[in-house]
Amino acid sequence: MPKTTITFVCRECGGESLRWAGQCPHCRAWNTLEEFTVRPAAARHAAAARATEGPSRPVPITDVEEDDEPRVRLDWEELNRVLGGGFVKGGLTLVGGEPGVGKSTLLMHAALQITARRGTVLYASAEESARQVRMRAARLGALAPELLMFAENDVESIIGAIEQAQPALAVVDSIQTVYDPGVDSAPGSVTQVREATGRLMRAAKQTGVLIVLVGHVTKEGAIAGPRVLEHMVDTVLYLEGERRLDFRILRATKNRFGSTDEIGIFAMGESGLREVEDPSAVLLAEMSRSAPGTAVVPVLEGSRPLLVEIQSLLSAVAGPGVPLRRTANGIDLNRVHMILAVVENRGKIALNQKDVFVNVAGGIRITETAADLGLALSVASNHHNVPLPDGTVVIGELGLAGEVRRVAQIERRLSEAARRGFTRAIIPRGAGDQPHRISDSAGTPDQGAAGPLRTLEVRDLAEAISAAFPAHMTSGANR
Ligand code: TYD
Ligand code: MG
Repeated sequence: MPKTTITFVCRECGGESLRWAGQCPHCRAWNTLEEFTVRPAAARHAAAARATEGPSRPVPITDVEEDDEPRVRLDWEELNRVLGGGFVKGGLTLVGGEPGVGKSTLLMHAALQITARRGTVLYASAEESARQVRMRAARLGALAPELLMFAENDVESIIGAIEQAQPALAVVDSIQTVYDPGVDSAPGSVTQVREATGRLMRAAKQTGVLIVLVGHVTKEGAIAGPRVLEHMVDTVLYLEGERRLDFRILRATKNRFGSTDEIGIFAMGESGLREVEDPSAVLLAEMSRSAPGTAVVPVLEGSRPLLVEIQSLLSAVAGPGVPLRRTANGIDLNRVHMILAVVENRGKIALNQKDVFVNVAGGIRITETAADLGLALSVASNHHNVPLPDGTVVIGELGLAGEVRRVAQIERRLSEAARRGFTRAIIPRGAGDQPHRISDSAGTPDQGAAGPLRTLEVRDLAEAISAAFPAHMTSGANR
């Protein structure tokens, strides 16, 4: 008789501990440990699953069968790029995101594209009725008989259907609503979610069917979220975006079959998502031209340069004794705190009576330090109430001493800015040592009256502020 084992699993990081504690010993989060029970029934399933995998013995790597076409490509290059060339057969992918961000919509698009290219797709929806899913599919403009709907939440039945249909893709929407009858725990609990995922992982490897799971991320972490599954699956994608904005960004945070640098950009519309191949153009169209407090920064998202607008707003604190507010949207708050300290100390701009709000326009999230100087100048611009000169982009990392440091791939950033009609770039000193070969792209029809891009090299933040607001600085006003 197999013994029932009890461990504790962290909802946040998925780390295991043998006994309960208020704080997770792995990620230090509080009150996140949840009991994880493996009952004999579940253990039997696992053993049975292992048995059907056949005898396991070491084989020469040259004898391992090769798949001539392991990738399942989609019509959307935005999606293929994030996946590293397409989904991989027999791979288990998790698509996470907040409720309502568009996970089911994205996967319905993927499903329809695969039916057109490769045949059957099984869509197991435990969350919505088959009718609701049909309504969504119809809204996306295509209903295909190769798309098999399966309104089921028992993982055994889902695996049975996968084995029988041998689809080119199986979607399980969502993993939180699926349960394993052999596991004595409520659907959505860590135990259930992990067991069901484990079984689907084995099914993917055994059948060679590509399986995609949808996982809801809740801000409170109340339900066992995708984070406890990250180490179990091959690929983890997160779909992000603000609900009121159209942009949806897909990022890989783990990929056994590709890099995790790339992002895919989509826009949500009346008939579902569409891919956005040229996001700079869309982002630029939304930019508030030359408003005080904004700076345009060419960031690199994977292999692609992207022009994003950073907005800062300073406002007087509510009153004495009221704590200062520092809010950041789309950029790491710790980085914002650091840059504000540098602006205060090295840029001589008093912020100790100011609330500071920072926003990255378009729902984009900046992860690069190359945006430091742009952030600092947007704060300075709001402080002086003077916009940066028309057509200016800002590139550079800031050190604690206020020094402006060089960043990777400055040429590509400058080329993108020039291509988009920007005429001035404030860049780190010495970064312009290489000649700027940007004239080749100047003159393309989409960027109007673009001339060559003039670079202004700066050594530190004070120099950057003088370069950005020359008239203002020479008038001697520095409040
Ligand atoms: P959905 O894919 O159901 O989100 P998730 O599976 O992540 O919970 O998408 C939900 C939102 O997307 C919903 O608020 C409506 C919107 N939407 C559109 O704007 N256009 C569309 O064509 C579709 C299908 C959804
Ligand atoms: Mg959904």
